[in-house]
Amino acid sequence: MKIKVLMVCLGNICRSPLAEGILRSKVDPSRILIDSAGTAGYHVGSAPDPRSIEVAKEHHIDISGQRCRKFQMEDFHSFDHIFVMDRENFGNVCSLAPSEDHKKKVRLLLEGTDSNYTEVPDPYYGGKHGFQEVYHLIDKACDMLIKDILT
Ligand code: 4NP
Repeated sequence: MKIKVLMVCLGNICRSPLAEGILRSKVDPSRILIDSAGTAGYHVGSAPDPRSIEVAKEHHIDISGQRCRKFQMEDFHSFDHIFVMDRENFGNVCSLAPSEDHKKKVRLLLEGTDSNYTEVPDPYYGGKHGFQEVYHLIDKACDMLIKDILT
């Protein structure tokens, strides 16, 4: 059975689409199913932010086909691991958990990494540099989480 991983941020147009694409680029698709979602519904149906698409493309990853969707309670049943970008996402996701046990599926993506950050910063209102920083934070975190969940 495939391990099912969900990446979550606020808008599902900047950080979690990058996380979905980066993780997908590193794993065997027969072993892992990856999706992403946002806790807010502002951009449902939209493609990722052009800045995220561009940064991914610079690393030979195509995320342009992704479409934004909102996180829903059912995701707690569909996914084994739910990785959130920041503490606000953590609180919003956990508030929808059907039980205390389901909350154990939710972790901060950068938890346990040696990064100076504990949260992936929201790059939406900044420039391209912020998206590059987010890319590298997520990239390192994905290497760690692969070791964690696949071995
Ligand atoms: P994301 O970034 O949570 O990484 O997708 C944001 C995208 C959109 C908004 C905020 C953050 N917004 O306010 O529309």
